[in-house]
Amino acid sequence: MKFSLVTLATLVGTAVADLDPIVIKGSKFFYSSNNTQFYLRGVAYQQTADGNSYTDPLADATACARDVPIMKELRTNVIRTYAINASADHSACMKLLSEAGIYLISDLSDPSQSIDRSDPTWETSLYARYTSVIDELSQYNNTIGFFAGNEVSNTVATSDASAFVKAAVRDMKKYIKQKGYRSMGVGYATADVSTIRENMADYFDCESSDESIDFWGYNIYSWCGNSSYTDSGYNTRTEEFRNYSVPVFFAEYGCNDVTPRQFTEVTALYGDTMAQVWSGGIVYMYFQETNNYGLVSVVDSTSVSTMADFKSYSMHIATADPTGTNKASYTPTNTALQSCPTVGSDWSAKASPLPPSADVDLCECMYDAAGCVVAGSLATSKYTNLFSTVCGYTDCGGVDRNATTGVYGAYSMCTPEQQLAFALNKYYVEQGRSASACSFAGSATTKATTSATGTCSAQMKEAGTAGTGTVTTEATATADSSSSSGTSTSSSGGAMSIHSSVTFGSFQIGAYLAPALLAGVGMIAL
Ligand SMILES: *[C@@H]1O[C@H](CO)[C@@H](O)[C@H](O)[C@H]1NC(C)=O
Ligand SMILES: *[C@@H]1O[C@H](CO)[C@@H](O)[C@H](O)[C@H]1NC(C)=O
Ligand SMILES: *[C@@H]1O[C@H](CO)[C@@H](O)[C@H](O)[C@H]1NC(C)=O
Ligand SMILES: *[C@@H]1O[C@H](CO)[C@@H](O)[C@H](O)[C@H]1NC(C)=O
Ligand SMILES: *[C@@H]1O[C@H](CO)[C@@H](O)[C@H](O)[C@H]1NC(C)=O
Ligand SMILES: *[C@@H]1O[C@H](CO)[C@@H](O)[C@H](O)[C@H]1NC(C)=O
Repeated sequence: MKFSLVTLATLVGTAVADLDPIVIKGSKFFYSSNNTQFYLRGVAYQQTADGNSYTDPLADATACARDVPIMKELRTNVIRTYAINASADHSACMKLLSEAGIYLISDLSDPSQSIDRSDPTWETSLYARYTSVIDELSQYNNTIGFFAGNEVSNTVATSDASAFVKAAVRDMKKYIKQKGYRSMGVGYATADVSTIRENMADYFDCESSDESIDFWGYNIYSWCGNSSYTDSGYNTRTEEFRNYSVPVFFAEYGCNDVTPRQFTEVTALYGDTMAQVWSGGIVYMYFQETNNYGLVSVVDSTSVSTMADFKSYSMHIATADPTGTNKASYTPTNTALQSCPTVGSDWSAKASPLPPSADVDLCECMYDAAGCVVAGSLATSKYTNLFSTVCGYTDCGGVDRNATTGVYGAYSMCTPEQQLAFALNKYYVEQGRSASACSFAGSATTKATTSATGTCSAQMKEAGTAGTGTVTTEATATADSSSSSGTSTSSSGGAMSIHSSVTFGSFQIGAYLAPALLAGVGMIAL
């Protein structure tokens, strides 16, 4: 049977029933209006991207009208999206989801703007991207929260990148509060890497609750075929999180080493033992693509065919009804944060201090006060060379960053152009503002300066002329994400990466209907 779209207009036109927001208490999710614990019966809902382009799954009302009834048939109550376009209109899809009782957890990055494990930063351009997604999705009561990163660190060597992700978590939590939005969580979706899994979980939930994650998503693919609670390692994972202070759930699961998938892990995940610790999970994934994780295969814009996996998942999720904890009588006991991992041979991110807050106003005002900046004609591809040159003449500690030592320049969160201006101007001032010190063969240029005032002046004093001081004065005005411009060095890797058994950061074009593929996975056209 094909699921066809009957009338989109009818679906979109029905009245919105208020969906009860989901709240967090202790290490569990609850409905806000009653005492029932909320367990995610989630489905990852996004087609994989090709390069830096992506399809915003919440901007296509026709596809949502096609898919929401099918997800509802699977008792789905949460979808995970990996990259949305904050400028697009999501109202139709969000309404369809809401009417079906489906909530949303979305990643904040996109394929071109994410924290890159090979050259991690947390800077104003990413801040603007992240806050724009929060602004957009905060309108909808069915938004539960966000992931500030997905599988960014995946080795000890890349564990320093977690400092930048945690800085993003801290800044986004603060942003949601500043804006007075309904409470929404900011979490992280981790890869399941044995060498760093415990340090990762500890790191993101240590030091201070203002900078720690609100929930922990685990991308886990260790239950393959007819595995078991013990063979899959689920038992050990469950013990590891028994005392964790925030909700934990599977942010992706569904190993496909053995196909068609049986989904026997669903029974374990929602069974009494695991349901004490885990808040359910998000099965990977809705769409059948070349990576072969689909529950359905797209036929056209109004119909899909269900796969064999759909049937087995459906069968198991049908009985996933843990009783859970009563909110009113629940007094969290595991309120203590974890101990931060120490930097050593198995972890390379210092827990404190974290990278500085991405403060677009401070960067702009530092730039305005600079008398020597990058020439507008200089191609961004030349920035790296200019950095090496100028930083050979003057100390660039003000824009340096090192998560292992925990040493961050106050301007290390600015755009590359602003960082370069800081370094060029520093050298220029040190040389008594002689014109010859602001040339670099035409790469730099002098300009009129505007002195910093107010908050910015105080912050710049704290940063010091070397830029190596710590800025403690907080920006008074709420940062406006639209005001951030400047050059963005888009990073890649991490954003929509499919889990670790598949190449990171490589986005393949889905060959939905390749006959060989369908034959190989035993598609069932019901
Ligand atoms: C969102 O939830 C709040 C509080 O429950 C409610 O007052 C409001 O009407 C809801 N908004 C929508 C659009 O459903
Ligand atoms: C609590 O509210 C949710 C959502 O409205 C509902 O599904 C659930 O059944 C309610 N719990 C009880 C005990 O009524
Ligand atoms: C995002 O949506 C806007 C408005 O629909 C559109 O103009 C823009 O091209 C989209 N951007 C991307 C990256 O798809
Ligand atoms: C899966 O394993 C269990 C326990 O070993 C066994 O009872 C069951 O028959 C197996 N199922 C399949 C489909 O192999
Ligand atoms: C969890 O906390 C209990 C009580 O404090 C303690 O006995 C137990 O060892 C802890 N478990 C883990 C895995 O830390
Ligand atoms: C951070 O500093 C340490 C100690 O100086 C050094 O070994 C390491 O390579 C630096 N890391 C980065 C990413 O520069």
